[in-house]
Amino acid sequence: MDEKKQQPNEEEKKKGGSLKVSRRGFLKGMGAGAIVTTMTSLPVPSVSEAAALPVGMKEAVVQLTVNDRAYRLRVKSNWTLLEVLRREIGLIGTKKACDRGNCGACTVNVDGKAVYACSLLAISMEGKKIVTIEGLADGEKLHPIQKSFSEHGGYQCGFCTSGQMMAAKALLDKNPKPTEKEVRAALAGNLCRCGAYPKIIESVLKVGAKVKEA
Ligand code: FES
Ligand code: FES
Repeated sequence: MDEKKQQPNEEEKKKGGSLKVSRRGFLKGMGAGAIVTTMTSLPVPSVSEAAALPVGMKEAVVQLTVNDRAYRLRVKSNWTLLEVLRREIGLIGTKKACDRGNCGACTVNVDGKAVYACSLLAISMEGKKIVTIEGLADGEKLHPIQKSFSEHGGYQCGFCTSGQMMAAKALLDKNPKPTEKEVRAALAGNLCRCGAYPKIIESVLKVGAKVKEA
């Protein structure tokens, strides 16, 4: 994978401020309300105007439901979901690395499935339920997955972490008590350049273990 692309870019530095944050602050910043969801000020035509766009259109208006919030946006037909989430909506917790479906850094959940946002066109997302890392925490309260990654050291540089967590969420929502083999299979599409796999797997298994205890 391109090493350069693993580093936070200028856009993230600007939006994220200082990169020196506490472990809890870091996880919150990736998922809680700390990242403000900003709508673009694009003038958006009404749905009836959008419907009137010609076949072979170069752009259209779509309504995306992201983290239970509806966004009406004008998108180009070649814009990926990743581009729209990060650039148009401002949800930069979803990371861009390979941008070609190889690494899993951009993983989000669409209708409950873990998918690569860099490999889906935003224009095809109308009516789907999209959840990003920002949708995990409940206000100030971390999601159990975020808590577990924090408690069990499930990351090093953190660049792959939001994708790992979203892959874990899709698994745990369907299978709250996965075996190690199931966790490994579910996260197989998410690469970690730091090689933090043992701790990542442990973090996901501990979420399941808590469900077992409850
Ligand atoms: S950025 Fe690597 S799979 Fe999407
Ligand atoms: S890439 Fe650094 S923690 Fe996974």
